[in-house]
Amino acid sequence: MSISLTRYLVEQQRAKGRIPSELRLLLEVVARACKSISHAVNKGALGSELGDVMGSAGSENVQGEVQKKLDIIANDVLIEANEWGGHLAAMASEEMDSIHVVPNRYPQGEYLLMFDPLDGSSNIDVNVSIGTIFSVLKKVDPNKGVSEDDFMQPGTAQVAAGYCVYGPQTTLVLTVGDGVAMFTLDREQGSFVLTQENVRIPADTKEFAINMSNMRHWDEPVKRYIDECLLGEEGPRGKNFNMRWIASMVADVHRILTRGGVFMYPWDKREPGKAGKLRLMYEANPMSWLVEQAGGASTNGQQRILDIQPTQLHQRVSVILGSKNEVERVTSYHTKA
Ligand code: AHG
Ligand code: MN
Ligand code: MN
Repeated sequence: MSISLTRYLVEQQRAKGRIPSELRLLLEVVARACKSISHAVNKGALGSELGDVMGSAGSENVQGEVQKKLDIIANDVLIEANEWGGHLAAMASEEMDSIHVVPNRYPQGEYLLMFDPLDGSSNIDVNVSIGTIFSVLKKVDPNKGVSEDDFMQPGTAQVAAGYCVYGPQTTLVLTVGDGVAMFTLDREQGSFVLTQENVRIPADTKEFAINMSNMRHWDEPVKRYIDECLLGEEGPRGKNFNMRWIASMVADVHRILTRGGVFMYPWDKREPGKAGKLRLMYEANPMSWLVEQAGGASTNGQQRILDIQPTQLHQRVSVILGSKNEVERVTSYHTKA
């Protein structure tokens, strides 16, 4: 018998008291939004009721990155789906300059939703997997109005996190702090069906993911780790490594949750003042929690990502995540350096 996302959430609420009904509503609404984004992604150049997803939107986001049409469509879908339910106080997105407070005409809830509406923008036009990443926090003081300060909570404070990958299958991956579950979209039924529970990342791996074209800009510890992997059986690691780089974090992390591996987007010397490329709130925190919940690890080379106290909404961070023993090794190369 198949278990729908709705049933999974109800059972988590009933048996474990983990998901208050407002949070359950929030997660169902996010899943519904992902379903519409998935539909638009599938239609591609044919265009859906949401429009043609291909190509540039001709604008830039607050971080100076070119926005694709689908970045904006996905952002609008998530805002519209979530604004009226009464479960949220505010939302923050990679594609918006500042937070979006739930308008006065709707009741305000106590949750805060953060998202990267479309991860892997460079892959939209070439028909390679992309996704949506989300993270949920609770407002610190339920009696006070919401502001950007409410979002400045470390990843350890997340109450739910996940992503939806739009690939050969559309898969929603979720944690509410009780392990990681995966749901596959059944298009005939129109619902997400539980296809894997208790996802575990093996502690050891022979696969790494990093953008090798940046090698000359890397810091010594990262260079050392990759050099040792490349030496294979003849080198200090005594085994051959394989490499993958999809350029959609969502797809690279999905592979790691499925068969292990280590993913790195480290700080490098191109722009020394920039902590890294990936964003703490929309990418690193939700992915780090999922990885830890599956038995893996995640650091910025110096400390656990989930312990970082954010100071800015669009803050960037260096990321090393995946199979525990490999992440610990790369981190130890940093701390020894
Ligand atoms: P986004 O499309 O949301 O801006 O994120 C892209 C990120 C991440 O998904 C991916 O791992 C990385 O950027 C790819 O970067 P490079 O193009 O430098 O390889
Ligand atoms: Mn992204
Ligand atoms: Mn994005």
